[in-house]
Amino acid sequence: VGRVHNFAAGPAALPEAVLARIREDLPEYRGCGMSVMEMSHRGAGFRAIAEAAEARLRALLAIPEDYRVLFLQGGASLQFSAVALNLSEAGQVVDYLDTGYWSGRAIAEARRFCEVNVVASGAPGGYRAVPAREGWRLTPGAAYLHCTPNETIGGVELHQVPEVGATPLVADMSSTLLSRPLEVGRFALIYAGAQKNLGIAGLTVVIVRAGLLGRARAITPRLLDYRVQAEAGSLANTAPTFAWYVAGLLFEWIAEQGGLAALGERNRRKAERLYVAIDASALYHNGVEPGARSWMNVPFTLAEPALEAAFLAAAREAGLVGLEGHRSTGGLRASLYNAVPEAAVEALVAFMGEFERLH
Ligand SMILES: Cc1ncc(COP(=O)(O)O)c(C=O)c1O
Repeated sequence: VGRVHNFAAGPAALPEAVLARIREDLPEYRGCGMSVMEMSHRGAGFRAIAEAAEARLRALLAIPEDYRVLFLQGGASLQFSAVALNLSEAGQVVDYLDTGYWSGRAIAEARRFCEVNVVASGAPGGYRAVPAREGWRLTPGAAYLHCTPNETIGGVELHQVPEVGATPLVADMSSTLLSRPLEVGRFALIYAGAQKNLGIAGLTVVIVRAGLLGRARAITPRLLDYRVQAEAGSLANTAPTFAWYVAGLLFEWIAEQGGLAALGERNRRKAERLYVAIDASALYHNGVEPGARSWMNVPFTLAEPALEAAFLAAAREAGLVGLEGHRSTGGLRASLYNAVPEAAVEALVAFMGEFERLH
């Protein structure tokens, strides 16, 4: 079998150039006498890799000087707890925007530690749009406002950074970070699991304003304390070294593609191509309001749900995989992360047209 077009939501496709680079770096990394997987996380070899990765990420996103970048384990889900424990005091109100499945998971975790106020919820509308900013009921003095700018499962995306006054804005950007330019300075904290646009599973990136460090509650597990991790250069314990190295390669690849502005344009075109095809068809349907449609995750259903299995089987036959919807929703979904080339989207659109013709 050759390589397929992978539309999975994460772990997801990697650029072939990055895979080739990894292969070149095996079994011996550039004069170090061993592979990255075998290096001490505290040795000079790995430190150079780690520092280069951070420098590249800072350059790509123009991260302001007064932000710390952490390379952690535990996945985006562990940040649901870390955010609450680091940024709020017991009993303090925290604001959350509910846009779907992943914000729901973040809210449920925060409720274990905080008084959660949901500022607005997309639930009454079936999560087909992001609640309009005018309707959000912010809590004066809330410790922070948490949002999920891209709902990976629902395919709903908040395309503008919301204006929230003095409230620190926290964002789970797991499925949208590095998909386009971003004004980091508008956020107090951004976190993302790496297994979509930043490389492979095992790494979570946190970008946090330095002024917010040092406020973790006394009960916070030491490894979840952002200050501990920042002071240790994310090496408070053994870091996810290989995933960190791969992230560095991804950052380098993004710069080679022309940076985030160029990638953003490409991602916008890819998404538009697919939505136009879906909207023009009688078989495929995406119910998200046009203004809230995600560039990264495109869920869709078939007018005849009984055809789903046949669709997935024929797609696989055509070398198109990872199109199953999330287990919580069913249906179909195409994820169009950075490493999914325009040619893959063309192939998908052509396949969908042909499948519709045959059925
Ligand atoms: C938006 C979002 N948040 C959180 C998660 C959970 O990430 P992890 O599995 O790294 O904990 C995901 C995973 O797909 C996600 O898409």
